[in-house]
Amino acid sequence: MSTNQGVAYVKPGVVEVRGIEYPKLALGNRKCDHGVILKIVSTNICGSDQHMVRGRTTAPEGLILGHEITGLVIEAGNDVEFIRVGDLVSVPFNIACGRCRNCKVGQTGICLSVNPARPGAAYGYVDMGGWVGGQAEYVMVPYADFNLLKFPDRDQAMEKIRDLTLLSDIFPTGFHGAVTAGVGPGSIVYVAGAGPVGLACAASCQLLGAALVIVGDMIPERLAQARSFGCETIDLREKTPLADAIEAIVGVPEVDCAVDCVGFEAKGHGADADQEQPATVLNAVMAITRAGGAIGIPGLYVTGDPGAREEAAKIGSLSIRIGLGWAKSHSLHTGQCPVMRYHRQLMNAILYDRIQIAKAVNVQVITLKDSVKGYADFDQGAAKKFVIDPHGMIAN
Ligand SMILES: NC(=O)c1ccc[n+]([C@@H]2O[C@H](COP(=O)([O-])OP(=O)(O)OC[C@H]3O[C@@H](n4cnc5c(N)ncnc54)[C@H](O)[C@@H]3O)[C@@H](O)[C@H]2O)c1
Ligand SMILES: [Zn+2]
Ligand SMILES: [Zn+2]
Repeated sequence: MSTNQGVAYVKPGVVEVRGIEYPKLALGNRKCDHGVILKIVSTNICGSDQHMVRGRTTAPEGLILGHEITGLVIEAGNDVEFIRVGDLVSVPFNIACGRCRNCKVGQTGICLSVNPARPGAAYGYVDMGGWVGGQAEYVMVPYADFNLLKFPDRDQAMEKIRDLTLLSDIFPTGFHGAVTAGVGPGSIVYVAGAGPVGLACAASCQLLGAALVIVGDMIPERLAQARSFGCETIDLREKTPLADAIEAIVGVPEVDCAVDCVGFEAKGHGADADQEQPATVLNAVMAITRAGGAIGIPGLYVTGDPGAREEAAKIGSLSIRIGLGWAKSHSLHTGQCPVMRYHRQLMNAILYDRIQIAKAVNVQVITLKDSVKGYADFDQGAAKKFVIDPHGMIAN
C-alpha cells in the first residue's frame, strides 16, 4: 500500500502536514478512468489558500489544500489516450471536463460538469467540487488528456521548473488580468497588489508591451520586489490620494488599464492601510482608469465570508460605486482565470527566455514539512512565492 502526505487546513490560522489517502482514479462514487495519478514535483502556496487558512471562507476542517500542481505521470486511467506515464505536466488549477458548453468555448474556469454545487472547480478548494488538493506527494487529476500541459523535454523543464511551476495558476492569472484590462503595446497600467499575482501581472504587462507599469501595495518589501524588474510603485501607507500619486508619476491622474490583484481582503489607504475595506480596490480603480478603459479583476471575491465586518459583506455584497464605472463606460472582467487559454504560450515564453517570471515573483523552494512555516511567512507578507518540493526533486 502506497502512502501519501498532504497539507491539511485545521482551523483558522492552522495548517498541518498529515498522512492522507493515496489517490484513486475516482472521486467518491464518480469513476475517473479519464484521470491520472501524479507524483508531485512542485506545488505552490497561493493567496487564494490564505483566504481559507485565515478563516475567511467556509472551508471545512481537514480539507487538503493545494491547486498549483506540476508533476510526473505515474499511472494513467483506461480512458486516457494521449498523456503517458513518464510525462512531466503542468496542471491548470481549474478542473475542466472538456465536454460541456463552457469548456467547448474555452471557459474552463466555469466548467459545468465538475462541481455539482456551482460552475467551476479546483483542487483543494472550498466550494470547488471536493477534489483533493495537491500540496501533497501524490494527487489525482481527472480528464487528463484535456487538462494537462505536457512539457516538451523533461530535462529542460526540470532546469526551468521554478518558472514552469507558475503556469498552474499565477502566471496565467496575472496575464489574464492584464489581457482583460486591455493591456497592449504602450499601455500605462496600474496593478493593485504586489503579492505573487500582482507581480506576475506586472511582469505580464511588460511581456504584452506596456510602456509603464505602476504597482500599489502597503508592504515595502513587496514594492521593492516590483521595482526590481522595472515597475514604478506607490506605497499605500502614505496619505497622498491614489490619483495624485498616479499624477506624480504619469503627469495626469489616470491610467489606461487597471488590474485588481487584491480581492475582498483589501485594506484601505493612508491612515486606513491596516483596516479592511473590501470594496476599496474596485472603487479606486474605477476612479483612476480612463473613460473607456478596462479593468481586470483576478482578485478573489466570495459569496460567503464569515469574517466580514459588515453584514452585507458576509454574502459578498459590497458597496461599489458602479455609477462611476458606468459613466466612464468601463469594462470589468471578473472570475477564475481560464488557465488553459494561456499556459502553452506562456510556457514557450519561459522556455525561449522571453520572461523571468520566477525571479519577478521571487520563488523560494521549500520542503513539504516546511510548508507550515511557508504559510505563516506568506501570511506575514513575505515578498516570496513559496514552492513546495515534496519529493526533493528540485536541485538547489
Ligand atoms: N482569478 C483567479 O483565477 C485567481 C487565481 C489566483 C489568485 N487569485 C486571487 O488573487 C489575489 C492575489 O493573490 P496573491 O497570491 O498575490 O495574494 P496576496 O495576499 O499575497 O497579495 C495581495 C496583496 O494585496 C495587498 N493589498 C491589500 N490591500 C490593498 C490595496 N487596497 N491596494 C493595493 N494592494 C493591497 C496586500 O498587502 C498583499 O500584498 C487573491 O485574492 C487570490 O485569491 C485569483
Ligand atoms: Zn493559486
Ligand atoms: Zn466542462
